[in-house]
Amino acid sequence: MLRIGIAGLGAASRLVLPFMGKVEGVRLVGAADVREEARAAFARDYGLSTFASVEAMCGSPDVDTVWIETPNHLHCEHALTTAAHNKHVIVAKPLAANLDECERMIAACRKAGVRLLLGHSKIFDSPVKAMGEIARGGRLGRVIQIDSWWYNDWLRRPRLAEELDAARGAGFVLRQAPHLVDIVCHIMGERAISVRALTGRWDTNVPTDGNCAALIRFESGAFANISLNGYGYFGTSELAWNIGIFGETRGSGKPAPRRAPLEPDGKYAEPPRERNLGDAMPFVGLTLVSCERGAMRQSPEGIYLYTDDGREEITVPPNPGRTAELIELRDALAEKRDVFPNGEWGKANLEICLAMLQSARENREVIL
Ligand SMILES: NC(=O)c1ccc[n+]([C@@H]2O[C@H](COP(=O)([O-])OP(=O)(O)OC[C@H]3O[C@@H](n4cnc5c(N)ncnc54)[C@H](O)[C@@H]3O)[C@@H](O)[C@H]2O)c1
Repeated sequence: MLRIGIAGLGAASRLVLPFMGKVEGVRLVGAADVREEARAAFARDYGLSTFASVEAMCGSPDVDTVWIETPNHLHCEHALTTAAHNKHVIVAKPLAANLDECERMIAACRKAGVRLLLGHSKIFDSPVKAMGEIARGGRLGRVIQIDSWWYNDWLRRPRLAEELDAARGAGFVLRQAPHLVDIVCHIMGERAISVRALTGRWDTNVPTDGNCAALIRFESGAFANISLNGYGYFGTSELAWNIGIFGETRGSGKPAPRRAPLEPDGKYAEPPRERNLGDAMPFVGLTLVSCERGAMRQSPEGIYLYTDDGREEITVPPNPGRTAELIELRDALAEKRDVFPNGEWGKANLEICLAMLQSARENREVIL
């Protein structure tokens, strides 16, 4: 039995908690948060132990894995604490705030002999997994170009100043680009070698870049074109059967008001955003994959393949949601193998995301 403690009881943990109890051999045993009201709500809802610090939770003999859902700049500290207690680590994307922290996390987990798994990775999503398998199956030939677009309302959600600060490993690009980077790197299946990007900062209320275009070059000469926009006027789900990142149905109504950064008292006092973790396949924007002998993209139930014979739809298995990480860690331990996506994958993902910011800042291509 794998016994999980959650570190951080904010928005991301609300995406994880509904999946606890759905995986055989895995059990939620407690949670840690610095906010007393968050701990009280968790104790009321789940009847499980709470801890005022990650360190205290790691000290509990009942916990053998910590799923870190704290802010980006705390991932490293919390992973090192967890590894120091010889406990496995699942950590929300991005893996850490910078590459040095990634390396320290990887080294600490290796030394302790525990697994380091990147959480919320889009390569767990059934359609993304399926496109990777088709790309490697050879039927369409090699992948030559991927276009991945995601327009959402990230800048209009309640944010603390620390969530907008690129120096602390946060901001729109570092919070949202990891998803598209995961998708394009997984489908491409080869090493990225350079990044050229541009970013924009057009919402004066919110001190972060709010849009980004990036061209990622891969070893074979193939490339991926990423486009991100978080101003909230348009959502790419409108181009994807109104299905959003959690498989939820999304409307195209009036956007939430623009807003300035909040203090913790303001942010956490707001009622949590309704998260309808839908049953449909998740759409992280729109990804179009062009190959030597065809093309593919997601359909509502699977994948559309476009070949010389026309369009064909392939259905894919149900989406695992956040059971994916629990199954992966449980199975990796049983099979005595490393997890995937592991710390190295998370570090490579962050290297690309950081290169996007560097390329835009220095107005040049960044070699990875
Ligand atoms: N919000 C999302 O939809 C989402 C989705 C996937 C991944 N993530 C990732 O999850 C992480 C958290 O994001 P979020 O949106 O949940 O933020 P959040 O602000 O909603 O939640 C963070 C939580 O961590 C707690 N916390 C802060 N410092 C702590 C400490 N020292 N010890 C214990 N708890 C502490 C806060 O009190 C809060 O409850 C980020 O790395 C983000 O990239 C977020």
